[in-house]
Amino acid sequence: MSKKVLVLTGGGDCPGLNAVIRGICKRAQQEGGWEVIGSLEAYNGVLSDPMELVALEGAKIAGIHVRGGTIIGTTSKGGPFSWPVLSADGTYGSIDRSDEMLQLLEKMGIDAVISIGGDGSQRISQKLFEKGLKVVGVPKTIDNDLSATDYTFGFQTAVQIATDAFDKLVTTAESHHRVMILELMGRSAGWIALHTAIAGGAEVCLIPEIPYDIDKVLARVNGRYKNGKGFVNVVVAEGAVQKHGTAFARKSAEAGYENVRLGGVAYQLSQQLKDAGCQADIRETVLGHVQRGGSPIAYDRILALQMGVKSFEMVLDNDFGKMVAFKNNEIIAVPLLEAIKDYNFVKTDSYIVKAARGLGISFGD
Ligand code: F6P
Repeated sequence: MSKKVLVLTGGGDCPGLNAVIRGICKRAQQEGGWEVIGSLEAYNGVLSDPMELVALEGAKIAGIHVRGGTIIGTTSKGGPFSWPVLSADGTYGSIDRSDEMLQLLEKMGIDAVISIGGDGSQRISQKLFEKGLKVVGVPKTIDNDLSATDYTFGFQTAVQIATDAFDKLVTTAESHHRVMILELMGRSAGWIALHTAIAGGAEVCLIPEIPYDIDKVLARVNGRYKNGKGFVNVVVAEGAVQKHGTAFARKSAEAGYENVRLGGVAYQLSQQLKDAGCQADIRETVLGHVQRGGSPIAYDRILALQMGVKSFEMVLDNDFGKMVAFKNNEIIAVPLLEAIKDYNFVKTDSYIVKAARGLGISFGD
């Protein structure tokens, strides 16, 4: 009888998810005696009635490493520990279905689970591991905010998409003598913004790790204009904060969605510049989910495929309760507990920040 590994993708989608799935399937086929089963929309596939599962084999997985999104769907809502339920008064609460789910997995004869997701998914994996689940984690996020791994797949693709957008904004900034503000994703980390600012050649880069002073930003903007002529390209991370300020965030009304929603700080920054006396015309671009869409670039495919192969090899080695990581050019396994310990902020004294300053980029500090 063959063994069974359940694979799922959780949290926001990210270029490279399908490449991980392919890596797992290819290595499992090579090993022989394994069935790879996908649970649709993270653990929802197992907890739904009827279950929503898919055999990951044959035509289903052919050539998928090139495709964006995830062929098994994903969700950022709920999960086995906080399953959303509608109360009689019309509001949503949540219940813990983790024990029920573990029983279901046992009944299905699942030998191991590979959970591909961000920090929220890795936290769920750790809690399930503590309850006895044989689980391996694979880190995914365009934000690159997981500290146990040097890079997450999807990040470089997001930076490439953002840089392409930046380059296009430069030509219009120059033609109209405008200040063009490009807002990029990243939650509380400024990785995408910082890399894009360097790759594109921004004058100003505002990231959450370095709170900005609007007068300093304005001084840099003004310094780029002479007799009303000039242009400025600003990159702002969605989580950027003014000195003594808080992030531009709102609570989502979607049931089971616990993250705060970022997005829109570009408009706030534009207004702050105007209020501070900026004379130049300003336009804002919020790039949003475009950064997560489409095909992964080769770098992310290669990283994701390696992580897929590694995660299955961890299953073969009974190396559970761990997450795949990319450290010092090696693909390794780190305990989930270590993986969820620290958030990966941009270090303000790191060389990349120093280099950005050396290139003349202002962080508004
Ligand atoms: O974590 C990835 C990410 O794209 C963040 O950069 C962004 O803030 C968030 O997800 C958006 O989430 P959603 O897709 O749920 O709107």
